[in-house]
Amino acid sequence: MKVTVLGAAGAIGQSLSLLLKMNLPNNSDLSLYDVSTATPGIALDLSHIPTSVKINGFHSVQIEEALSNSNIVLISAGFARKPGMDRSDLFIYNAKIIQSLIEEIATYTPNALIGIITNPINSIIPVAASVLKKAGVYNRSKLFGITTLDIIRSNTFVAKLKQKNPEKINTPVIGGHSGITILPLLSQLTQDYCFSEKEIYDLTKQIQNAGNAVLEAKAGGGSATLAMSVAATRFTLSLIRGLEGEKNIIEYAYVEGNEEYARFFSQPLLLGKSGIIEYRSIGYLSNFEKNMINNMLQTLNNDISLGEKFIE
Ligand SMILES: NC(=O)c1ccc[n+]([C@@H]2O[C@H](COP(=O)([O-])OP(=O)(O)OC[C@H]3O[C@@H](n4cnc5c(N)ncnc54)[C@H](O)[C@@H]3O)[C@@H](O)[C@H]2O)c1
Repeated sequence: MKVTVLGAAGAIGQSLSLLLKMNLPNNSDLSLYDVSTATPGIALDLSHIPTSVKINGFHSVQIEEALSNSNIVLISAGFARKPGMDRSDLFIYNAKIIQSLIEEIATYTPNALIGIITNPINSIIPVAASVLKKAGVYNRSKLFGITTLDIIRSNTFVAKLKQKNPEKINTPVIGGHSGITILPLLSQLTQDYCFSEKEIYDLTKQIQNAGNAVLEAKAGGGSATLAMSVAATRFTLSLIRGLEGEKNIIEYAYVEGNEEYARFFSQPLLLGKSGIIEYRSIGYLSNFEKNMINNMLQTLNNDISLGEKFIE
């Protein structure tokens, strides 16, 4: 199994690479790439951790070597928000970076599963899909916007409110990955937790604003990186378990799905040997959640068309 991280010298890239060095299956290959010349050194540093995961670092023009024969490529390359910025403010900077990296993936490892972390996810995944389509290698069951951070945050906030173990909670989160497009389906947890209407409203807002809270609290020192790396590790390990033939691996991610609500939408996915093997039903929705979906659709569709129009 070969996993490649593009943007590996960044804040997310480095902590994600550390977690992957610690958690990938035995004898996996971990390939790190960034435009930063520090990347081989980061790989050397990580190589001193005594696990059987083999690690190599590449920079700048060495991207072919970094990418070739990857099973999974994770992308955290690009600019992160500064206080006062919305995720959509990043589009102009990050769309070009994603376009060029996806072109390299299409050339050097066209069959890999691709998990994108770079924001704004809502628009960046349509850019990536268009680039892959143009290159003639698009397979919608292999391209994912990683939204797992919204799920782990939801689990943590629900657990804190109800004084439960967060590791025993798995909150479905659908829609997109910014502001009102993030929708936790708290009604699907009601078998185990009893929420008042106010609790549902407040938790939903807390989950939608969690990224802003971290951004403000870091006071110019970056956006969310550490919990994000844990989220991306969980998602990557699920992709690997699917690729290795394990059954019943379900994760939520922002993908081109069944278009029930929008062309790209975060939804439950059954993962397998070829990526997504089944688009699962979103299931029960409360009236509050149905309204929240209606309220998000214009924003989400605008975000999607921004990405689609970027590649003519
Ligand atoms: N999906 C999510 O839930 C989520 C959460 C938090 C942050 N993010 C996003 O993740 C991205 C990375 O955040 P960060 O804090 O690690 O940023 P960072 O600035 O610390 O790191 C970005 C890295 O990308 C590298 N890079 C830039 N252009 C590149 C290229 N063409 N090829 C390879 N590498 C390149 C930079 O050299 C840098 O090392 C941002 O876009 C941020 O908004 C996503």
